[in-house]
Amino acid sequence: MDKKPIIFANWKMYKTVEESVRDSLKIDSSIRNPHQVEVFILLSYTSIYAVSQALRGKSVKVGAQNVFWEDSGSYTGEVSPLQLKDAGCEYAMVGHAERREIFGEDYDMIARKFKAVMRHGLIPILCVGESEQERVSGKTEEVIGNQLEVAFGGAVPPSGRFYILYEPVWAIGTGVTPTPQEASHINLLVAEVIRGLIGRSAERARILYGGSVSEENISKFLSMDRIDGVGIGKASLDPENFARLVNACIRD
Ligand code: PGA
Repeated sequence: MDKKPIIFANWKMYKTVEESVRDSLKIDSSIRNPHQVEVFILLSYTSIYAVSQALRGKSVKVGAQNVFWEDSGSYTGEVSPLQLKDAGCEYAMVGHAERREIFGEDYDMIARKFKAVMRHGLIPILCVGESEQERVSGKTEEVIGNQLEVAFGGAVPPSGRFYILYEPVWAIGTGVTPTPQEASHINLLVAEVIRGLIGRSAERARILYGGSVSEENISKFLSMDRIDGVGIGKASLDPENFARLVNACIRD
C-alpha cells in the first residue's frame, strides 16, 4: 500500500466558492514535492464542483465533510455519495465530532454513512474520539472500541482504502493535544480493534490523528508509529499556513 503521509484540510463552514477556488489553487502550487504526500481539502458542498474543476490534473484532491447514506430520494437537504462523486469528490468524512454533538448523529447513522461511502468507491474518513468527560473517567479505549464496532457492524469494507481519524473531542480547536505518544497509542489500538473486527482487510486502513495540529507539532505526530496522516482544521484556513505545514513534512 502507498505509505505517503496523508494531510488534509477541513475548512468547515468557511469560504465562498471564489475563496475556496483561489485558496485551493494557492495550496496546490505551493507544495514542494507533491508526489511525496497525499493532500486533500474537505470543502463545503457549495464549493466542491468548482474546486474539483479548478484542480483537475493537479495533485491536491477534494472531499466532503459529510454525506447522506441513500443514493437518491425524498431527503430534503441531504447530499448522496453519488452526487458527491459526480461533483468531483474523492473523499467523504463521516462522524465528525461537530456532527455528533451539534446535529445529533449517532453511531448507527455514522455506520450507514461509512458503508454508503465505501459502496460508491469514495474514500471514507471515519472519525472516532472521546469527549473530555470520557477521557477523565478513563473511558477512552472503551468509547473508541464501541465507535469502531458499530461503524464496521460485522461488514467488511468492500475494497479500496479507508481512513480512520482519531480526533479527541477535547483537542478540536482548543490548542490542547494528546502527546504524540498518546495519540500513537490510540492509533495502534484502533489498528488492533479493526483487525479483530474485519481481519486482514484491516490492512487497507490508514489511521490518522486530528485535533489542534499545528506547525509546532505536525512533524512529531507524523513521525509516530501508526500515525499515517493528520487532519487539520483551524491551521488549514490560511492557504499559506497550510502549505507550510504540508511542506514541513516533505523531504527535499
Ligand atoms: P482543529 O480542527 O485542527 O482546528 O482542531 C480539527 C477538526 O475539527 O477536524
